[in-house]
Amino acid sequence: MSYLITAKAPGKLYIAGEYAIVEPGSPAIIVAIDQFVTVTIKESKETGSISSEQYQENSLSWHRRGNKIIFDNRDNPFHYILSAIRLTELYAQSTGKQMVNYHVNIDSDLDSTDGKKYGLGSSAAVTVATVRALSLFYNLKLTDDALFKLASMAHLDVQGNGSLGDIAASVYGGWIAYHSFDRDWLRIMRQDTPLVDLLTMSWPMLSIERLEQPHDLELLIGWTGSPASTSIFVDKMALFKGKQKSKYLKFLKDSKKCVTAMIKGFELNDSVTIQKEVTHNRLILQRLAYASQIIIETDALTALCDLSESQYAAAKTSGAGGGDCGIALATSKTNRSELFSDWLNNDIQPLDIKVTLLN
Ligand code: PMV
Ligand code: MG
Repeated sequence: MSYLITAKAPGKLYIAGEYAIVEPGSPAIIVAIDQFVTVTIKESKETGSISSEQYQENSLSWHRRGNKIIFDNRDNPFHYILSAIRLTELYAQSTGKQMVNYHVNIDSDLDSTDGKKYGLGSSAAVTVATVRALSLFYNLKLTDDALFKLASMAHLDVQGNGSLGDIAASVYGGWIAYHSFDRDWLRIMRQDTPLVDLLTMSWPMLSIERLEQPHDLELLIGWTGSPASTSIFVDKMALFKGKQKSKYLKFLKDSKKCVTAMIKGFELNDSVTIQKEVTHNRLILQRLAYASQIIIETDALTALCDLSESQYAAAKTSGAGGGDCGIALATSKTNRSELFSDWLNNDIQPLDIKVTLLN
């Protein structure tokens, strides 16, 4: 009899705190959405394989350093799958498990076969789903905390520069307040700390807390039709940080104050404060974009936000921006069908996506 395991993990959307969250100690608010990556693992007697309907034709990109070609693997899902397999097997071996071969199949709601990329965190979801499926396959009994840590290391080994907020949302589901951990500390610790110990020790600055969505707010999501590469935007922001430290530090301070107030708003079920701070966070990101000359809010995202605001919904870009999605928090005063038709008239597609509490 061959052994078959299935596990899934959701995609995510940033609500607030983008870019600042890359720095340990800054907060962000993120939601998990009801679009999943599903990983199936089937024991194999001979060779192993990885297959996927959506990831058949993936492209590779590179830049040059002198005459050398440097490949950029950060937008290629196969590298996240391989990294997740490598680290989970390393952990399984350290707990004395016997290795076997298997076929891995990946089915992603987050990447469509017609090549549309919505920017809903498929690299994080595929990493979490692969670690989760393999941990079931090898019966590793990982807690959510250990799953987050293992998946974060697997993701970091490929992308290298993110906050891992997308991994947190994918592991825990629902609305979360996330503070990123100190990645320099982790890099140093990984040099000589056994994986088993790393997964049980507390990681400096890391914090993940559940938030309750007020009943009178509804999350609406619009897709602008153009994809954007988060890792390239985060690289550019790191250059800005290097060149204009004081402006960057001011941005961090403003973002932290705004998102902390927003988190308080969630804790007090105060939707007026939440809306106010969403609008405030949009402004803070606009200022950052102006100072860094990085186009976070594209014309399409500006239209999405302005149309939402004229329908009493606080709105902003979501994630790195430069395309992908924007979010709006609608109230009872918002006429959803009018807003959606305004969006559609501006080539913005409302996505039929909800927040998911369960993985
Ligand atoms: O564009 P997204 O949804 O992948 O979000 C990126 C958020 C950043 O803060 C800009 C980067 C990060 O790793 O947190
Ligand atoms: Mg994005």
